[in-house]
Amino acid sequence: MKIDHEGRRVLVTGGTRGIGRAIVEAFVDAGARVAVNGSSEETTRSAVSGLGAGDRIVAAPGSVATVSGCRAVVEAAVEGLGGLDVLVNNAGRGGGAAIEDFTEELWDRVIDTNLKGTFFTTQAAVPHLRRTGGNIVNIASVNGMTGVVRSTAYGPSKAGVINMTKCLAKELAPDIRVNAVCPGGVDTDMLQNLAVRIAGNVEDGYRVIARDCPQRRIAETAELAGPVLFLASDAATFATGSIVAIDGGETA
Ligand SMILES: NC(=O)c1ccc[n+]([C@@H]2O[C@H](COP(=O)([O-])OP(=O)(O)OC[C@H]3O[C@@H](n4cnc5c(N)ncnc54)[C@H](OP(=O)(O)O)[C@@H]3O)[C@@H](O)[C@H]2O)c1
Repeated sequence: MKIDHEGRRVLVTGGTRGIGRAIVEAFVDAGARVAVNGSSEETTRSAVSGLGAGDRIVAAPGSVATVSGCRAVVEAAVEGLGGLDVLVNNAGRGGGAAIEDFTEELWDRVIDTNLKGTFFTTQAAVPHLRRTGGNIVNIASVNGMTGVVRSTAYGPSKAGVINMTKCLAKELAPDIRVNAVCPGGVDTDMLQNLAVRIAGNVEDGYRVIARDCPQRRIAETAELAGPVLFLASDAATFATGSIVAIDGGETA
């Protein structure tokens, strides 16, 4: 079934690569205009030109790890698109260490992007979404649902996103729906880095990660876009505060 987002104006944070990029492509394919955010001018401009979707795509560059950055990203998106109907909080960073080795810098890098960034991007977007009756989809993780060794900042950041989704779903109802998708292992730079940390190379690392997945595989990025487009669409108008695992059965 093709999900229709004709005429919608969508901001995807972290839309330059990986899951975010697949979400951008799927929204454009469904008729939306999309503001693509990456952490810098350079990564954002290069993704926008690589996507080649003409005026259907605008750039909203900048890090969401600071409050001023979040506000600037939302402002650029609203200016470029002429309003906002959907916010996808997808920007995220991995990174883990044993508790004895964990630094404040690593903790801040992960928490600031994943948790603080999601919150303050949402805060900046809320007035615009109230105007349009829009909605929000947060990209959390299965790591926010279960404990994972050496994931003591990433896991809590995603558990925070899950709880924040539920809090805001209640606070912003009935005006703005807020839902979250929790991916399992998806083939991106982030997962490849994790695979190398686990097993020394991507192939062996993926084999280890896929063992926890009943489907015994790593997902393609496009497999995450459909659920996001569904939650953001008029096919899901009674869904708010929903936490949807898309993980090949990992958390079943
Ligand atoms: N891959 C998985 O297996 C998996 C599983 C569960 C959840 N997730 C979640 O899915 C989301 C996307 O992950 P991914 O695997 O696609 O990651 P990825 O391939 O590493 O891409 C990360 C994206 O986030 C952007 N980003 C990072 N820090 C940022 C910042 N401070 N401000 C703005 N943008 C920033 C990057 O932009 P630049 O290009 O500028 O660096 C890039 O677009 C993340 O929230 C991640 O936690 C992924």
